[in-house]
Amino acid sequence: MHDPLGLYAPESRDDPYPVLARLRREAPLYFAGNEGAGSYIVTRYADVASGFRDPRLSASRAEAMAKRLPPEARQWVAPVIDNLAHWILLRDPPDHTRLRGLLNQAFTPRLIETWRPRIQQILGELMAAIEPGEVDLVHALAAPLPVLVIGDMLGLPPEDRHRLKACSDAIAGFFGASAMSQQLLAGARAAILELEDYFRKAIAERREAPRQDLLSALVVAEEQGSVLSEQELLSTCTAILFGGHETTTNLIANTVYSLLRFPDQLQRLRDEPGLLASAIEEVLRFECPVSRMGRVARVEFEWHGQQLNAGDRLFLSFAAANRDEAQFPEPDRFDIARADNRHLGFSVGPHYCIGAALGRMEARLALEALLKFPRWELREKPTWLDNLTVRGPNFLRVALT
Ligand code: HEM
Repeated sequence: MHDPLGLYAPESRDDPYPVLARLRREAPLYFAGNEGAGSYIVTRYADVASGFRDPRLSASRAEAMAKRLPPEARQWVAPVIDNLAHWILLRDPPDHTRLRGLLNQAFTPRLIETWRPRIQQILGELMAAIEPGEVDLVHALAAPLPVLVIGDMLGLPPEDRHRLKACSDAIAGFFGASAMSQQLLAGARAAILELEDYFRKAIAERREAPRQDLLSALVVAEEQGSVLSEQELLSTCTAILFGGHETTTNLIANTVYSLLRFPDQLQRLRDEPGLLASAIEEVLRFECPVSRMGRVARVEFEWHGQQLNAGDRLFLSFAAANRDEAQFPEPDRFDIARADNRHLGFSVGPHYCIGAALGRMEARLALEALLKFPRWELREKPTWLDNLTVRGPNFLRVALT
């Protein structure tokens, strides 16, 4: 592995920020990787913000993902690559524009606001099971809430949530793996096949009898013409299920953990509850749940004195950009009242997160509910997910009284 500055060293998993700071200073376009499977990491705020809007960089990278796999594995994981290739997240215009136009209708802030009572209800049920005492908040709240909410929006029964979550976790493993293994590939393949089968049945039921849910709306869109193809419909269901909860789980968990790490900020939030929205924004900057996103060079060009070739992979790091001193004063300080917080936690440009309003609402409601416990105490320092894209703790053992 060529990684002279240690970005992928095991100690960077729990605390990646010192290495990212060094990259920002010394190697703003840093190359790391194995022979034939390397990629560049972009770390400065100005570069990340402009990179996501740069037409020389393409979001369409399923093929580049496949190329990094050993040739004998490529055929076998084709179902995964075919599914991902049709995600909105991995498309360029004009397909991206078409899909985005369709999905935007379901995720306007006004429409998301109508979900507030239902989210409150689901949250209330989860909170009812949390007694004063020690609890793993990832397991009891941060993981189940978002999958139940997005499942409900799609119109899927709550009892399927464990299955859906397990599939989504396996896809997350594939997406952000620090090292690809046979086990990760097998997990992702099984998950995609299972989800496609699951959604095919759910779609067939809605073709028979449409309901008042997002899945029915997508089916109607597909039936009304060329807005969605069959594979796009399946891939969109997968993408929404995935995007709708892996990230929000970690936004909730990272918020609780950051407040526990900085008790003065927790106290300030208790004293000034009006700061809750701003506190969540600060977590999206300081401990952002999505650490990075990939792009592929569409053409040859020079950047920071290096020659990029068409097909080269780049990762634009939100985690690094959000701690850039050129953009944020005292970037390593967690300040829930930070002014002018133009973080990149939801990205920027045409792929800006479609679920931002939903994710924010879930996190705010979850925090409001947890703050009803007057005392929180961390019982065990968490370990972090072994994932380069999704950042969050594996568990969060807290005593609530
Ligand atoms: C709450 C925490 C969340 C975070 C931190 C987050 C983060 C992101 C980021 C960084 C991107 C852009 C990737 C890029 O530029 O390539 C993105 C896109 C996306 N997000 Fe989120 N997300 C969150 C919640 C949600 C929710 C609740 C949904 C619900 C469906 C969702 C669905 C999507 C979709 C569909 C896209 C693709 C948009 C496109 O390609 O045009 N996200 N998200």
